[in-house]
Amino acid sequence: MTILLVLFLYVFVSCPVSVSASNVASFTPEDNILIDCGANSRPQVPDGRAFKTDQEASEYLKTKNDVQVSVSAIVPSPIYLNAKVFPEEATYSFTLKRPGYHWVRLHFFAMKDKQYDLQQATFSVSVNRYALLHNFKINNNSKPVLKEYLLNMNDPTLTLKFEPMKNSFAFINAIEVVSVPDSLITDEGTSLFPVNKFSGLTKHGYQVIYRINMGGPLITSTNDTLGRTWIPDADYLEEKNSAKEVSTSVSFIRYPMTVTPLIAPATVYSTLTEMGDAGKASNVSWKFNVDRAFDYLLRMHFCDIVSKSVNELYFNVYINGRMAISKLDLSTLGGSRLAVPYYKDIVVNSSLFSDGLKVQVGPLNEDTGKRNAILNGLEVMKMSNSADSLAGEFAAEDGRESGLSHKGVMAVVGFAMAFGASLGLGAMMYKWKKRPQDWQKRNSFSSWLLPLHVGDHSVLSKGSGSQKTNLCTGLGRHFTLADLQEATKNFDSSVIIGVGGFGNVYLGTIDEGTQVAVKRANPQSEQGIAEFNTEIQMLSKLRHRHLVSLIGYCDENDEMILVYEYMSNGPFRDHLYGKNLPPLSWKQRLQICIGAARGLHYLHTGTTQGIIHRDVKTTNILLDDAFVAKVADFGLSKDTPMGQTHVSTAVKGSFGYLDPEYFRTQQLTEKSDVYSFGVVLLESLCARPAINPQLPREQVNLADWAMQWKRKDLLEKVIDPHLVGSINPESMKKFAEAAEKCLAESGVDRPPMGDVLWHLEYALQLQEAFEGKLEDETKSSDASGASQPSIVVASATPINNNHPVSNPDDSRGPAEVQAIGDHSETAMFAQFQSLNGR
Ligand SMILES: *[C@@H]1O[C@H](CO)[C@@H](O)[C@H](O)[C@H]1NC(C)=O
Ligand SMILES: *[C@@H]1O[C@H](CO)[C@@H](O)[C@H](O)[C@H]1NC(C)=O
Ligand SMILES: *[C@@H]1O[C@H](CO)[C@@H](O)[C@H](O)[C@H]1NC(C)=O
Ligand SMILES: *[C@@H]1O[C@H](CO)[C@@H](O)[C@H](O)[C@H]1NC(C)=O
Repeated sequence: MTILLVLFLYVFVSCPVSVSASNVASFTPEDNILIDCGANSRPQVPDGRAFKTDQEASEYLKTKNDVQVSVSAIVPSPIYLNAKVFPEEATYSFTLKRPGYHWVRLHFFAMKDKQYDLQQATFSVSVNRYALLHNFKINNNSKPVLKEYLLNMNDPTLTLKFEPMKNSFAFINAIEVVSVPDSLITDEGTSLFPVNKFSGLTKHGYQVIYRINMGGPLITSTNDTLGRTWIPDADYLEEKNSAKEVSTSVSFIRYPMTVTPLIAPATVYSTLTEMGDAGKASNVSWKFNVDRAFDYLLRMHFCDIVSKSVNELYFNVYINGRMAISKLDLSTLGGSRLAVPYYKDIVVNSSLFSDGLKVQVGPLNEDTGKRNAILNGLEVMKMSNSADSLAGEFAAEDGRESGLSHKGVMAVVGFAMAFGASLGLGAMMYKWKKRPQDWQKRNSFSSWLLPLHVGDHSVLSKGSGSQKTNLCTGLGRHFTLADLQEATKNFDSSVIIGVGGFGNVYLGTIDEGTQVAVKRANPQSEQGIAEFNTEIQMLSKLRHRHLVSLIGYCDENDEMILVYEYMSNGPFRDHLYGKNLPPLSWKQRLQICIGAARGLHYLHTGTTQGIIHRDVKTTNILLDDAFVAKVADFGLSKDTPMGQTHVSTAVKGSFGYLDPEYFRTQQLTEKSDVYSFGVVLLESLCARPAINPQLPREQVNLADWAMQWKRKDLLEKVIDPHLVGSINPESMKKFAEAAEKCLAESGVDRPPMGDVLWHLEYALQLQEAFEGKLEDETKSSDASGASQPSIVVASATPINNNHPVSNPDDSRGPAEVQAIGDHSETAMFAQFQSLNGR
């Protein structure tokens, strides 16, 4: 009610001509959570929207420590008077009423507080699986900063997480989480070049970087039902003389069935920029900064309000100098009518950005009478990458993403949206409407158990107490060549700790004491510099406790150098054989295998596309100072199975680990990693190389040889002698079963890593129970002699199904085991219960 009244009022006042109701957008978002963080009273925002106070929002917030700060100054909007500072991790959890796209708008205004200088705050922000900001810092920008995201939520809980960098803190002034009409983002668009149909837009999250109203005024949320801000295009025009502004009354705009005013308000379609001097026939060009590491979605809005009659205007649209739309004929598209809005979604692949984004409209080359070209509106949206990240590696905090923030100071003033209706604040207990989308799939084990570890910086801060880490705001850190020369004694051969196909690995020291592994590509390396950059982008988003983290990179002078966290205990293999290191216990080996399995599982499933490691082996499983296993060397060998650019038919991998099916068919799937991992398991158990040419023929290949013994049920004959007596036979049996499954001849018969993990967890449970029992027995009856203990399987106890899936890195626990798969082995859970309850 309120909504319509307000909008009608506006329409009638501003244009005396009567107007068709179809020009009026109305939309009531089901989810509409607005928070003025740190505020004690509701702010009187110009649009009258109801922002919750800090108190009212406390039910959403979970943190150990938070501080309210405020300024008394003249600010563009009252929402900037207060902020919430988080010295420690903080999460807001919102229960959504409906799935689908939501706006997540984050308002930052770096005020100066006596205690906290917000300009220096450095922190990361994520929403569920999406990394939004990484080590973000406002710096000396004294204007409000709006970060606006469009995220497709397929999970009823939206968790907005703020993670301060070590020794820093996070802050936020205001939060908006608002449903978006389904019609706003459809799945299909157009990709370039060649111009083709593109599907899968709804798989991505977006960050709106620019939203431009060509030839028109600033449009604030007051004039846009969806709360969007549209800024004028003048600042982005390449040659102002080549362009001219045109506008008409909004009442002339005739929305077709296919375009609603929600796509863009009539105020956008009723103004445009056209060719300055039609006689001269030169293009109109706009230039934008983009982060070259991401693909972008461009939504171009057109509406012919300049022609006198139909079939008069034909023009071309170019993107980065190439034809994106040829001979666009708006009047035909509009059903032989003028002033009909039309929009086109174009996906621009990051590979097309060498020098930013250039959008041009221009006349046809042939003489078609009147020569003109127009553009009414343009939205430039960064697309989340395959690691669900929107946090730009190379994005400088200001300058780049200025389209919404800097130019739009006024814009943030108005928040008008006549959503009016007051919300039942406390009552968030709505039924989640299930949709046939894939959110249930997301709900599965993999996405819960192994989330992206956005902003895990333990490595960086280690050793250097001072905050001198000088991180760039993106992911990863940019090192100069000089930095790394210094860190590695000018790449001295004495500090080489590894040699690989990619090049040498050096031990380096940065930041007065932090040890790092510096991997320098051979100059002959096949990898091009562009590819290298994409790689860094990708790798730095892949953060997981069981993956070796990338700290930074150097691309100076055609160098391709990656800097990783240093794993002081080196490769797993060195602890198994060949180096005379103290033998690892069976439990340690299990924990290492479990860690590695988690890392691999994350690679396979934790990203949208999935990454195949391609070279799983014990030398690529590294151990840190606490013997935590981390998988190394991923990504460089390659990403997705379908990755067109990387279909090298040459089989990669290491002998002894190579999936025979892959070898035969040259078809790589993640099951090839599973095979290799099976070999790793046998290596852990038998403590011998995967291939040992010195041995008699039938023993050369570990997989073949050990499986023969396994089939005879005599595996214990060939295990590492150090394990004899301390390994629980049950645990070994479970473990060997897992290995056998991994080594199945055919990929389809091999379990996914998630299942392998499950088996290993089980083997560990058995071993722990066994060891506990041993201990008990030694304690209680030292004299009774060592009888061989056996596992007591207790009768079934009820399973606690309400157990939440807890911290992914907290190993084991019945809840997690339950979450791992749809195993109906209830009895087994019962065992777990009893084992754990001991
Ligand atoms: C603010 O930052 C810009 C760019 O980073 C720099 O050129 C300018 O000197 C800085 N201003 C102050 C007052 O620090
Ligand atoms: C936006 O709405 C306000 C109030 O309704 C009105 O005064 C203003 O002219 C509108 N701006 C535009 C660009 O239409
Ligand atoms: C407009 O730009 C495109 C691509 O940059 C170019 O091919 C074309 O010749 C230009 N047209 C005119 C009239 O300058
Ligand atoms: C961009 O191109 C790369 C390489 O061709 C491809 O892997 C990627 O999927 C493309 N992105 C989109 C959004 O199509």
